[in-house]
Amino acid sequence: METLLFDFSSSEDLVMDLCKLLPAQLGEWTLRDFPDGESYVRIVSECADKNVILLCSLDRPNSKILPLIYAAETLHELGAKRVGLIAPYLGYMRQDKRFQSGEAMTARSFAKIVSTYFDWIATVDPHLHRYHSMDEIYSIPARVVHAAPVLADWLGENIERPLLIGPDSESEQWVQDVARRIDAPHLVLEKIRRGDRDVSVSIPNLDGYDDYTPVLVDDIISTGQTLLAASRQLVAQGMSSVVCAAIHGVYSKGALRDLRNASVAQIVTSNTINNETAAMNIASELAVVCKELVSSE
Ligand code: R5P
Repeated sequence: METLLFDFSSSEDLVMDLCKLLPAQLGEWTLRDFPDGESYVRIVSECADKNVILLCSLDRPNSKILPLIYAAETLHELGAKRVGLIAPYLGYMRQDKRFQSGEAMTARSFAKIVSTYFDWIATVDPHLHRYHSMDEIYSIPARVVHAAPVLADWLGENIERPLLIGPDSESEQWVQDVARRIDAPHLVLEKIRRGDRDVSVSIPNLDGYDDYTPVLVDDIISTGQTLLAASRQLVAQGMSSVVCAAIHGVYSKGALRDLRNASVAQIVTSNTINNETAAMNIASELAVVCKELVSSE
């Protein structure tokens, strides 16, 4: 059965490689805003009896989720067999508990919305912290791709004697995995976050690592404050040429500029989000799980 993939502005290498590997035809649709800000969606490709995939990274999710819902519902109405969502970056995963009374637990609500309109979801290293599995909040088949092999390959090929450093306890899962794959030493720092842009980290003793290249490894760069605070501490302790490697370059306003203006030598992310630091291609890993999801009834 033919598979159609509709893309919502992903990086070209990701779209082309997924189409080749799945394999899938690129679907044609029209998405635009009416002058009053409402969404216009039209499915142009014939989709009856086909497996359909919508590819959309859910950073800045508010403006994307409604057009996606309209498209998914229309595809079902037009006879698509199943409609899956590849969200290489899955937003709304960090608000996973009521940190203060009255707060919305948006991770749960967002999962409910997506589970209503899609038949399955695939994503890359979602921010699973207090939830241990997507199945705790998603009621559709949900598969996770791990970016560690891609990060490890890139670091192994591009960085001499890397010392991998996780900026907080949550990053330990990624740092440990990547370090093991390239047989590099690793450390995990302690982070205190007092607000969106108020972050401090404490650095352990770095004696013995003078001739290593410090590589900060994290899942998400959002405000960039976590990596900025960590890189400042590393430089204060005499380390130079700090490299930042992250899975998802979300970059809130000014974050990339701030990191570039600081003492960071290089910033690299995967192409889960289409941006100028996306140097690691996650397509092969995503294609493997999506093939399974597409072929499972
Ligand atoms: C936090 O738990 C995550 O692993 C990242 O460290 C965090 O999301 C980075 O955010 P920011 O760039 O805003 O400091």
